[in-house]
Amino acid sequence: MSKIFSNTEDNISQAAEIIKNGGLVAFPTETVYGLGANVYDSKAVANIFAAKQRPKFDPLISHIAETDILREYAATDERVFALAKKFWPGPLTFVLRRTDDNPSIDLACSGLRTLTVRMPNHQVALDLIRKSGVPIVAPSANKYQAVSPTTAQHVLEGLGESVDMILDGGQCKVGVESTIIDLTTSKVVLLRAGGTAKEDIENFLGEKILISAGNPELPTAPGQLLRHYAPKNILRINVTQPDADDFYIGFAETDGDLNLSPSGNLSEAASNLFAFLRLADKSAKHGKIAIAPIPTQGLGLAINDRIKRASYKK
Ligand code: TXA
Ligand code: MG
Repeated sequence: MSKIFSNTEDNISQAAEIIKNGGLVAFPTETVYGLGANVYDSKAVANIFAAKQRPKFDPLISHIAETDILREYAATDERVFALAKKFWPGPLTFVLRRTDDNPSIDLACSGLRTLTVRMPNHQVALDLIRKSGVPIVAPSANKYQAVSPTTAQHVLEGLGESVDMILDGGQCKVGVESTIIDLTTSKVVLLRAGGTAKEDIENFLGEKILISAGNPELPTAPGQLLRHYAPKNILRINVTQPDADDFYIGFAETDGDLNLSPSGNLSEAASNLFAFLRLADKSAKHGKIAIAPIPTQGLGLAINDRIKRASYKK
């Protein structure tokens, strides 16, 4: 039986149950199809990265159906609400400063102190978010470096095995990803050109917006990577023989003060990673954290990319 389902109310309700239970649902938006999970379920979020075979963790866009929910997570001001009122629902994504301290959304935010959010202009997406009762994080529903999908069939071809259900919403009207703007500073910065024209944003704001120096497809330019969550303590990776005063994070049969996954499951390890780094930072009594070697296949590549950055010394 195909995993593509028409967007009847019953099917959307069923998709919402899957989201609530930690599964992955591909759903239509006006830009491209998204691969969605419950923002609070870090195991499900880890499964997104596994399904996409992304070699690193990227912050994911949270999709919301009500603007007011922003107040729970993010620093908001008049500019944020004015832009939301003008451009939402629609293909414009905001990067905002996080105000929550909720470790369960760390993986979705890739350990950054920012939250990336938009309200999609597609009735099926909005119904799904409302029925799920949680923000839905979703990257484009394609494998890493493949072309973004604009039909349910594209999703099936690319991610058929790893998605629990694909909701069909027809062909995406916009067909390119959303425009991403950084609203964490007084000047608005364009991080990715997309479905909302830069000029429309400028006309509304009455000022020019800056363009990020980074690659538009990879807005997290090297300078921005330093904003990634890095522990305050010294962090060493690939450590098999920890010092007596290390706070040691183990993996599989290599046990430590914490173990990312006693059974050696890389999805479980990914879902624990950011929370454990926080915990280690609080618990390390001698200013030193060490991490056991993590295999580099599957999600292991993303985990290694992340801890390499976290251990980077300026
Ligand atoms: O139209 C879209 O935006 C689609 C639909 C599904 O909503 N989503 C989408 O997500 O294109 P994704 O994950 O394929 O692309 C989001 C991009 C990534 O390149 C990510 O690195 C960047 O946004 N990004 C997300 N949060 C960021 C942040 N806090 N700072 C810098 N870049 C960020
Ligand atoms: Mg993408």
